[in-house]
Amino acid sequence: MFDPALINRFHNLETPFYFYDLHQLKTTLKACSDAAFKHHFQVHYAMKANFNPRVLDTIRDFGFGADCVSGNEVKAALEHGFKAEKIVFAGVGKSDKEINMALDRDIFCFNAESVQELQVINDLASAKNKIANIAIRINPNVDAHTHHFITTGLEENKFGINTWELGSVIQKLRECPNLLFLGIHFHVGSQINDLEVFRNLCLKVNEMQLWFQEEGFTVKILNVGGGLGVDYHQPDENNIADFADYFKVFADYLQVNKAQEVHFELGRALVAQCASLISRVLYVKNGIKKNFLILDAGMTELIRPMLYQAYHQIENLSGDQRAGSEEEFMVGQQPAADSNEPATNYDVVGPICESTDCFRTDVALPESKRGDLIAIRTAGAYGEVMASGYNLRDRVQSFYTE
Ligand code: LLP
Repeated sequence: MFDPALINRFHNLETPFYFYDLHQLKTTLKACSDAAFKHHFQVHYAMKANFNPRVLDTIRDFGFGADCVSGNEVKAALEHGFKAEKIVFAGVGKSDKEINMALDRDIFCFNAESVQELQVINDLASAKNKIANIAIRINPNVDAHTHHFITTGLEENKFGINTWELGSVIQKLRECPNLLFLGIHFHVGSQINDLEVFRNLCLKVNEMQLWFQEEGFTVKILNVGGGLGVDYHQPDENNIADFADYFKVFADYLQVNKAQEVHFELGRALVAQCASLISRVLYVKNGIKKNFLILDAGMTELIRPMLYQAYHQIENLSGDQRAGSEEEFMVGQQPAADSNEPATNYDVVGPICESTDCFRTDVALPESKRGDLIAIRTAGAYGEVMASGYNLRDRVQSFYTE
């Protein structure tokens, strides 16, 4: 929901840009940390979802740790004041350079994803005369029931160590004096709205921790990853994920003893609703079969619809304003007859030279004109971070309100 004063400010800005509502972000972070605190759960922010500096600073101020998947993310987390003892480093292909850097910075834990990686971390740590803390990322073969492109916890996925390899893991851990086993790590996928998936994950975690304990290993950390979904269809009505219900599943089903810590790696649920991509209509093309709204933003600014057929709410801010308030008309503009009655269905597309550069087809919008401002909602997670320079496009800008 955008108030008219804000839309008027948008009119003076060059498009496209990401609009960050930092108040929305703070409200979300508070809801999450209150709900986690109730159960003494620790949350690492999965910074792959958004590493915009203002976003990172805000999240750091709330005391979250950081979940990083590259050496540069580890560096950025440290530069933004996340404490090294709250940084975890995951990723299926950590390079030697990245591992060395993370060892030098004494991060909290490596989430190791293969037996070979264990050996490499051990050797690099040994050369530095250091001990590396390790959590074993297990592929639990739990179906996340989400888009198959963002499913990570099935045997066919490249992530984690399959359960039948755990015998070799134990052997490797015993052979490697520079590794300290801290616990086990899981992440089954993203945009998960069915809490049953997390219940199934808990049952698998219980089974796995028992197995490690029977092998004589103390499991101090249970890291259950992230994945909580958000409401892309109703970003105003449902702008904060249900953290209380989510954490309750883990409180109810995970077997946790007093010496153990439960860690989470949430990304999307923390940042998705705090940003919209704002762009302008460049051209309106009315055809026989299709009407196209051609925006000045495309897959180079937000690739989720093109990559995962992801749904994002699309709004014409200028059209809504025209319909809503007679005083604010610019000369020559006519109000839509009724703001609740969409005038036209449009395919909302970008300017990139690819047919797939389409945000959505058949979007019902008030009649739209060149220059109208269009908001693509719920773009705070995996939006700006996945922007690219394809077609030699300018880097997308950002605009913030507190
Ligand atoms: N932990 C690990 C090991 C992960 O791989 C991920 C996300 C997370 C935590 C955070 O998951 P979240 O809470 O954000 O669901 N670009 C895709 C999503 C890719 C997710 C990758 N891994 C999208 O736009 O939907």
